[in-house]
Amino acid sequence: MSLEESIKGRGALVGIIGLGYVGLPLAVEAAGAGFRVIGLERDAGKRKKLARGELFYEGMDGERMARLLGEDMLRITGDSQDLLPCEVVCICVPTPLSRTRDPDLGFVRMSARQIEGLLREGVKPKLVIVESTSYPGTTREVVRPILEANGMRPCADFHLAYSPERVDPGNARWTIANTPKLVGGMNGCCTALAEAFYAGFVQETVRVSSPEVAEMAKVLENIFRGVNIALVNELWMLCERMGLDVWEVIDAAATKPFGFMPFWPGPGLGGHCIPVDPFYLAWKAREYDFQTEFIELAGKINVNMPYFVSGLVARRINEAGKSLKGARVLVSGVAYKPDVGDTRETPAAKLMELLREGGADVIYHDPFVPVFTVGETTLRSVELIDDTLSGCDCVVIVTAHSGVDYELIARSGVPILDTRNVLHNHGVSPGHGTTTD
Ligand SMILES: NC(=O)c1ccc[n+]([C@@H]2O[C@H](COP(=O)([O-])OP(=O)(O)OC[C@H]3O[C@@H](n4cnc5c(N)ncnc54)[C@H](O)[C@@H]3O)[C@@H](O)[C@H]2O)c1
Repeated sequence: MSLEESIKGRGALVGIIGLGYVGLPLAVEAAGAGFRVIGLERDAGKRKKLARGELFYEGMDGERMARLLGEDMLRITGDSQDLLPCEVVCICVPTPLSRTRDPDLGFVRMSARQIEGLLREGVKPKLVIVESTSYPGTTREVVRPILEANGMRPCADFHLAYSPERVDPGNARWTIANTPKLVGGMNGCCTALAEAFYAGFVQETVRVSSPEVAEMAKVLENIFRGVNIALVNELWMLCERMGLDVWEVIDAAATKPFGFMPFWPGPGLGGHCIPVDPFYLAWKAREYDFQTEFIELAGKINVNMPYFVSGLVARRINEAGKSLKGARVLVSGVAYKPDVGDTRETPAAKLMELLREGGADVIYHDPFVPVFTVGETTLRSVELIDDTLSGCDCVVIVTAHSGVDYELIARSGVPILDTRNVLHNHGVSPGHGTTTD
C-alpha cells in the first residue's frame, strides 16, 4: 500500500514529537479521527501524568483523551524507537529564544535527528511535518539537511512539509477541527500527502507553494498581533497623559464598520508565541541585511508595559496619600490570558518584580494558578474575600479571568488599576475607565 493510500485510509501510524499545548491536542484529534497515534514526550513527569489522564490543556476533552488512551488509539512513550513504524511524524517541540534573544532550534534539531535515525532503520518512507513556529527557511535549511545526513533521499525515503499550528488554548469557538490549516511542502507530492493527513480531522486545508510561505505566514500572524497591541499600548500611555479613556476611544473607533479592527491595550505580552516568534524573523532578516523595524519597535513598547503599569500603581497609591514602599498590592490574575493557567512569559511576573523592588508587599489571586514564583520567591494564590481586600492598598487587574468576583473588588473601596477594562466589561465599573478609586 502506498503512503498516500495508507494516510487516506487512516491506516498510517502517526508519531507526534512533543506533547505540549500543540502536540497533545493534535495527537488527540488525529487519534479521535481514527489514526493510531504514538506521542513521544521527553519529560517523564509529564508522561506519567498523561498516562494517568491527569494532564491536559484548557479546552481539551479529558474524557475523550482517557477513552483514546484506554482504546490504545493513543499511546505515550519516551522512547523514540517506538516511532519506527510510524508513517507520519509531526514535530511539535518548543522554539524558544536563547539568552541573547536569538532563535534556539535545539529541540527542532534533536527531533529531526531522532527521525533521521528512524529513517535509516525503517523500511517505510515517512511523511515528516514540522508544526513548531519558526523563521522562514527552517524546514528546508535546518530540518531537511539533518534528515538527508546519511543518504536518505527526499521524496523517496521521506517527504517533508511545514504546517503551522494555530491552536488557541481555551478558545472554544476556534478549534483544530474548524481552523483552516496551512500546508506547504517541499514539493507538490509532499504538500498533497500532508493535506491528505490533515483532511482526516481538519475541515479546511489551505495549500501554499512552499514551506517558507507557510512559515512566514505563521510568523506574520503573530507579528500582526504584536504590532497592533503595541500600537494601542502606546495610545494608552498617551491617553493617560491626556486624561482620556483609551478603551472608550477604541470602542468608538470600532463603530466604523470597515477598515478598523480593535485591539486592546494591557500590561504587556505573554505566552509562548507573540513575545517570542517575531524575534525569529528579525534574526533571519539580518541575514538579508534587513532590519524589521516594526517588530523591534513593537517589542520595545510591549516590553515597557509592566514598567508603565507599575508606575500607574504607584500613582494610584500616592493619590490615596500613601507610598508604594510598604503598601500591599493585590494582583488579580497572573496567567498571560483569561481562563487558562499558562504563565509562560506572563507580564505579571515582571510587574510583580517591579512592585516588590519598589518596596510593596505583593500578593495575588488567580483561580487557575495556585502557585507562582516571582524572582526567588514562591507565592500562593490568596482567597479573594473581604478580609484580603481590606488589607490592600491597591488592586491591579492583570488577567481578565471570567470567574473572578469583580463586584467584590469594586465594592471594596480599595484603589483599583484595571489594565484590562474588565470592570466595565463586567458591568461593575462606576464609569468606563482604566482606573477607579
Ligand atoms: N502554545 C501555543 O498556543 C502555540 C500555538 C501555536 C504554535 N505554537 C508553537 O508550537 C511549538 C510547541 O509549542 P507548545 O506550546 O506546544 O510547547 P510546550 O512546551 O507546551 O510543549 C512542547 C513539548 O515538547 C517536549 N519535547 C521537546 N523536545 C522533545 C523531543 N526531542 N522529544 C520528545 N519531546 C520533546 C517538551 O518536553 C514539551 O512537553 C512552538 O514552536 C510554539 O511556538 C504554540
